Order: sequence, then C-alpha cells, then structure tokens
Amino acid sequence: MSGSKIITGVIGDPISHSLSPFIHNGWYHKLGLDYEYQKFHVLPSELGDFLSSMNEKGISGINVTIPHKETVIPFLNFEDEGLLAQNIGAANTIVNRDGQLFGYSTDGDGFFKSINYQWVLQISGKKIVILGAGGSARAIGFSAMAHKASSIVFANRTLNRASHLVQDFSYHVPSNEHNPFTATTLDESLIPLLKDADLVINTTSVGMFPNNEDCPLSDMSWVKKGQYVYDIIYKPQKTVFLKQAEERGAKILNGLGMLVGQAAIAFAYFTGQEISEDLFLETLNHIGDQAS
Ligand code: ATR
Repeated sequence: MSGSKIITGVIGDPISHSLSPFIHNGWYHKLGLDYEYQKFHVLPSELGDFLSSMNEKGISGINVTIPHKETVIPFLNFEDEGLLAQNIGAANTIVNRDGQLFGYSTDGDGFFKSINYQWVLQISGKKIVILGAGGSARAIGFSAMAHKASSIVFANRTLNRASHLVQDFSYHVPSNEHNPFTATTLDESLIPLLKDADLVINTTSVGMFPNNEDCPLSDMSWVKKGQYVYDIIYKPQKTVFLKQAEERGAKILNGLGMLVGQAAIAFAYFTGQEISEDLFLETLNHIGDQAS
C-alpha cells in the first residue's frame, strides 16, 4: 500500500535494470521519510504526456535516464541551480512544484561528490583529462569548471564533437578567468597530456558490459603511481581500463560512486534532506552486490 506516501521515481526506456529505486527507497527507509520511489517505463513517444500528467498522478519528483535526458529540456523551467542543466542541455532530475516542472543536472556534481568522499580529493587547481565528449563528459566537464579545475581536456574519437563542446563551454567562462577547456583526439597524441594529468576519467562506453575486454586507450603506459583514474562504467565493476591503471599503481574508482553521488543530490532536491558522508559510503558498500 503506498497510501499517502509522496511518490518519486525514475523514467527511462529501458528501465528494468535501474538501481535508483534500491538507493532512494533505502534512504527513505533509513531516514524514516514517507516517500516511495518507483520505476516508470516511458517510451520516447509518451514523454510529453507523462510529464504533463505528473501533477495529476501525484508524482513530486523524478530522475531521468536514457533516452530522455536531452528531450525533457523543452518541458522544464530552470532557476539558478538548474542553469547547469540548461547550459549542458540535459537534465537527470525534475521537481514538480505546484504543477511547474523544474530541471536539474546532478551527474557532474555527483561525480565530484564521489571523488571528494571516496578519495578526499579536491579538484580546484587540478589537471583533468576526460575521455569522451558525450552527455556524461558534458556534465562532468561543466562541473569541473565550477570546481575550478586548472585544465580540462576532452579527448574524443570524433574530434568535432569535443571541439563543439569546448566552444559551447568557453562562452560560460567568466571573461576575467583562464579558459580551462581544450579538445583533442583519442589517440597516441594524448599521451603527454595523460602523463601530466592529476585525474583521468573515462566517460566513453568502451569496456562496458558485454564488451568487457575493450579499453578506450590501447597504450596505458602513461599511468603514474598515485595518479587518480576514474571509469564512470560500473558494469563490469573493474573495467580493463581500471585494471591496467591499478596494476601501474593508480588510485581507481568505478561509476558506482557517481551513481550514488548523483542520487544523493537528487534526493536533496526531492526531500530537502542531505545524505551524510557516512550514509553515502554505507550505500556504496551495499550497492556493489546489487550491481553485479
Ligand atoms: P553518455 O551520455 O553516456 O556520455 P554518449 O553521449 O552516447 O553517452 O557518448 C558516448 C561517448 O563514448 C562518446 O564520446 C563516443 O565517442 P564519439 O563521439 O566519437 O561517438 C564514445 N565512444 C563510444 N564508442 C566508442 C568507441 N568504440 N571508441 C571510442 N569512443 C567511443
């Protein structure tokens, strides 16, 4: 019986694999909140109808996953904290306030919450290389600028896509500040930049299940002991990219931290309550089993 519980959830197509109900319902239970979190299978053709019926259905907030993150944008309002979503052209969190839908992107800040809690790493002044130039690279890159990274390189198979991203983002760099963004190709020319980086993040889908043997870079000899290497993939939990980085002495993390991080920020939008560092880390410990 859902009774008078406040309804939240996640929309996507497909949606059956989503770990978000496990995370959010766990937190509702733990914090004694009268909320529930459901999965809604919404096809692209049903998106508009679903969003306009949220009020009638009593849905107070939703997360948004593939393939709707970009296509929800025209349906949403944005206030200050939502400008990131508007700027990157993708929202993963929607809050229904008296029938008005407000959009947010919590992926980038979720990523930085993860490295802050799991590595105790502050990004200010750090050199970052991001492999990929898709939606996740956008969210992380924009957030990295806000966290004052000193350089942010997008390295992509299709150079054009990375160059467009840099062009888009450069408009948002305050005129009196250094522009941290550059674009390059995902090949050997990247090696000197990788060697010099404090943090290297794989946001490409290379190495994701079922292509577990693939690696976005054929040469991993650049990895230095103590370097920070993150793969936003969490299935498998240790990609070849992470295995090779670990063998060379890097500190590694997989995408489960970003998953829990983006959920924690969405949770605060839904409920007004923060997820503590302890609860974040406890959730991460449990989610590994769910994800395998
Ligand atoms: P997401 O929203 O998860 O970031 P996406 O927008 O589809 O997903 O982006 C996928 C990223 O993986 C892109 O950077 C893509 O590179 P292209 O822009 O060249 O397509 C990258 N990618 C996917 N398959 C790849 C492959 N086999 N080799 C290199 N990069 C790949």
